[in-house]
Amino acid sequence: MMFVDSRLKNQDYPPNPLRKGLPREKAVMPCVFVIFGGTGDLAHRKLLPSLYHLYRSGLLPRKFAILSYASGDLTDDQYRESIKEAIRSFLPSMSAEDSKWEGFARLLYHCRRTADFAESMLRLKKRLIEIDTIVGAEGNYLFYLAVPPSAFAATARGLHDVGLAQDREGRSWRRLVLEKPFGTDLQSARNLNKELQSIFREEQIYRIDHYLGKETVQNILVFRFANEFVEPLMNSNYVDHIQITVAESIGVEQRGKFYDKTGALRDMVQNHLFQVTSLVCMELPSSLDPEAVREEKTKLLRSIKRIRPEDVTTVTVRGQYAPGVFLGEYVKGYREEDDVAPNSDVETYVALKLNIDNRRWHGVPIYLRTGKRLAKRVSEVAISLRNVPHTLSDDFEIQPNVISLQIQPDEGISVRFQAKVPGLTLNIRPVRMDFKYGAAFASSVPEAYERLLLDAMLGDASLYARDDFVEAAWELVDPIIEGWQLTKMPAHSYLPGSWGPKESDDIMARDGRRWRRL
Ligand code: BG6
Repeated sequence: MMFVDSRLKNQDYPPNPLRKGLPREKAVMPCVFVIFGGTGDLAHRKLLPSLYHLYRSGLLPRKFAILSYASGDLTDDQYRESIKEAIRSFLPSMSAEDSKWEGFARLLYHCRRTADFAESMLRLKKRLIEIDTIVGAEGNYLFYLAVPPSAFAATARGLHDVGLAQDREGRSWRRLVLEKPFGTDLQSARNLNKELQSIFREEQIYRIDHYLGKETVQNILVFRFANEFVEPLMNSNYVDHIQITVAESIGVEQRGKFYDKTGALRDMVQNHLFQVTSLVCMELPSSLDPEAVREEKTKLLRSIKRIRPEDVTTVTVRGQYAPGVFLGEYVKGYREEDDVAPNSDVETYVALKLNIDNRRWHGVPIYLRTGKRLAKRVSEVAISLRNVPHTLSDDFEIQPNVISLQIQPDEGISVRFQAKVPGLTLNIRPVRMDFKYGAAFASSVPEAYERLLLDAMLGDASLYARDDFVEAAWELVDPIIEGWQLTKMPAHSYLPGSWGPKESDDIMARDGRRWRRL
């Protein structure tokens, strides 16, 4: 069963009402969690704070260790100290005197990577076996590749060459978790899949998309299929269009080098936005079994009409943030960011109009937009229903109903409908019915990485991207990039704190619609 976590033992979260009646908890088997890039930004910001939180919640096995593999020449104790600092900065709930820290610190080890790849891998293997003997991990190893994608294939091969890739079925397991982006286009994704699958079985490969770990994204399916009033509306009879927005207020921060080769389409749309689109629009799977859900998601992606390269100018928009004042402070433009080419044409904003070629969604456009340095951080799916066919009087302008799924930061769901304004005359105004996670469940929403790391250790790949989904997503992205190159489509400049370039309004205006004000 996916989407409903039956394993949280409530040490940090209050009881989840959805747990009732679900199967008994599954426990993580003893294992060593190996982090390639254990001293890097992702390990500091996300992986180790999440592992620590899982530890504090009692969800990690007793026989467990974390082995960092990275270039720094650190002793285990120095590594532990550096992680303590990182967790303090990135996990707000960690106090200076956290009583659980000492126990967690003892689980941490570090192994240095040198320029000699083959020798380093052998040293890693030796260290891993030593640690396994100390903690009793029974040969179960999870390899988390928090390294640049260009290093994925070589690392997988290196693991194979030292005999660490093969699991002994029924006796011990080996798993490989890969960060995104998975490839840079269809061909490179196919090559990478092929290369990895020549070493690991598909069931051993976990491709991360952290949006799938978000509680609100998991709830999309529950909302659609566990509520009788929702599903009958989800088709072209009732839905006018859907808008999916993932807006960020931050710029590219320290990731200029990566971003300048990537851009918003590859960084956000190919993965996060397509995952969300597929959950919102897919058909009902035959069960909540991981494969059944993953099958339907891929089918949905395959039914999205490819944008023809010659059509990009009417159904896509590219933008790039200019310098300006944001929240009272001067902020750099994209081209002034570190490690970005001064004449870069890479997009930091993208908007697209998609059409799904199936019966359910025939004629219902799906508009996607995402960008950095926008007015605020907000992610939302807005399902806008058709207007009422007949209003009782011409005196009122009736606004259509909108169901909005607020993914972050103010997690919840709201429904806009019309109501009579109290008074002695008839006056109609749109109002909202709101559900907020915080108020309804009196708990904070867990960090996406916690759920995903726990799942990988449990061997549950439901919330990870399958090979065919990743390839289907590139099949949609490649022609857009081709069209951008063909038409030399510029990235229009936009001011920090705005909602993107003014050209993005044209996509909507051409269809007589507007982006939602968020
Ligand atoms: C990452 C992208 O996958 O997602 C980043 O590479 C982006 O560029 C981030 O900032 C957004 O994630 P979230 O969870 O903050 O919406």
